[in-house]
Amino acid sequence: MSEFKHVAIIMDGNGRWARERLRPRIWGHVRGSTVVSDIVQTASDSGIKALTLYAFSTENWSRPKDEVSSLFKLLRKFLIKEKNRIIANNIKFKVIGEIENLPKETIALIREVESITDSSTGLNLTFAFSYGGRTEIVQAFNAFAKENPGKVMTEKSLSQYFYRPEIGDVDLMIRTGGEKRISNFLLWQMAYAELYFTDTKWPDFSPEEFQKILSEVSRRERRFGNVSVQSDLAESIEVAETNKNKKMKENTSDV
Ligand code: IPE
Ligand code: IPE
Ligand code: MG
Repeated sequence: MSEFKHVAIIMDGNGRWARERLRPRIWGHVRGSTVVSDIVQTASDSGIKALTLYAFSTENWSRPKDEVSSLFKLLRKFLIKEKNRIIANNIKFKVIGEIENLPKETIALIREVESITDSSTGLNLTFAFSYGGRTEIVQAFNAFAKENPGKVMTEKSLSQYFYRPEIGDVDLMIRTGGEKRISNFLLWQMAYAELYFTDTKWPDFSPEEFQKILSEVSRRERRFGNVSVQSDLAESIEVAETNKNKKMKENTSDV
């Protein structure tokens, strides 16, 4: 069972994956979308409580129109295809982001799956779609100020105004596709996340690699600003050994 409560993934590399195969970028997105359900299943089976997938950023609106609309279509197709599996697996589904500019039928489908799975108690599955970390923080700030005029804001009270407060901090963020940046993803929630970057492009990402990353990163020591428990232990053993040797020497010289 994985020790990570919340895993977030930047699913990157679809376009380059397709280009390498002399295909249009959209083909990469189509292939990439077929990987998602296996990764969701792996997360659910590994005992992870929350999985957040970055599917479309606020910055991605600047891409060519046909690419943007094909990404909307893929989201809708995914939900139509996976709806029953999501329900059957007790998964609680939500989209975070500013989705009001998406096609109406896509918004309706998102709301439908969100409401059907609202009482599910399994994996919290979140799609970050038309999502930007800075926008999320600013809208939380404005909502807090509106509802609590004159009140002092704390980290805890502000975070209640995020899109999905219950998912909490990210423990592990994985980015596929080789880039080493966070591209405006969950800025607040990733304050203490472990980061893992793989060169594998999203359409080639597999449950096996996902499991491998989970077990590799679980060997890292998370210190949260504290001192290392391991090196502290090693240090006390060393001090104890030195003291013991000293004592032994003293005892022998007494004889
Ligand atoms: C990630 O793949 C999917 C989205 C951003 C929607 P890209 O489309 O960014 O693929 P690359 O990075 O160009 O290869
Ligand atoms: C980040 O990927 C967004 C998603 C994967 C949805 P991009 O490909 O848009 O990020 P940049 O532009 O390389 O930073
Ligand atoms: Mg990219």
